[in-house]
Amino acid sequence: MRVFRYPSADSTNECAFRALARGEAQHGDAHVALEQTAGRGRRGAAWHSPAGAGLYMSVCLLPQQPLSGAGLTMAAGLAAWDAVRACGCGVCRLKWPNDVVDAQGAKLEGVIIETRGLDPRAPHYVVGVGIDVLQREFPAALVQERPVTSLRLLGVETTLSAVESDLLEALPRRVAQLEHAAHTVCADFLDALALRSAYVAARGADSEVRGRLQGLDLDQGLILVDSHGHTRHMALETVQALVTVAPHDTL
Ligand code: BTN
Repeated sequence: MRVFRYPSADSTNECAFRALARGEAQHGDAHVALEQTAGRGRRGAAWHSPAGAGLYMSVCLLPQQPLSGAGLTMAAGLAAWDAVRACGCGVCRLKWPNDVVDAQGAKLEGVIIETRGLDPRAPHYVVGVGIDVLQREFPAALVQERPVTSLRLLGVETTLSAVESDLLEALPRRVAQLEHAAHTVCADFLDALALRSAYVAARGADSEVRGRLQGLDLDQGLILVDSHGHTRHMALETVQALVTVAPHDTL
């Protein structure tokens, strides 16, 4: 595995795409920057990327076969979760679709997966992961937007290179798990959400399904049992948010 390092980059996802465009990318190449000047998050958000404070890494995947989008979303989230747990952060869980948050819901890391002009005969994916590691504080504007935290603020003593090597170990392992035993990724993901049997609302762009969360499957989607005892499904790609609700709110 090759690791390309940048003192400063616009976005490590862009570094990976530039290598792809030059025809120089290899499966598993990692691009790591000390800071990003245009770090990006999902849905057009920016990713605050101050120098030396967080891990900013993008990994290029060139698998033999196209991967399930929902499956890769889960596998990458699990890898990010594995990495912070390996560093000693035991209080974190995944939040749909693949944020890692602390017990109070403050965001610790985020994942963005991008592809450009996917050719099913030669699939490529860029998995970008940002982990807040050494921050003692965050800009007021970011804190107003959403609760955020870092490994340091959670009392975890670690280094950027330790988190990086844990993520470099976890990501290929979780991708291999997706390729060979996708159902176990679904089961692990459900555990990491800590929502098994919880009463939830699964929200899509213009639909919502409520019930007790029974399972999660690449083909069947989210599997919920509503208040009438009926099994309901929602395709994973359509779920934008998954939140707990009081049992009487599932009626
Ligand atoms: C999110 O939660 O919105 C996803 C954030 C992803 C941030 C990482 S940092 C490394 C890589 N490069 C980027 O520009 N974004 C991702």
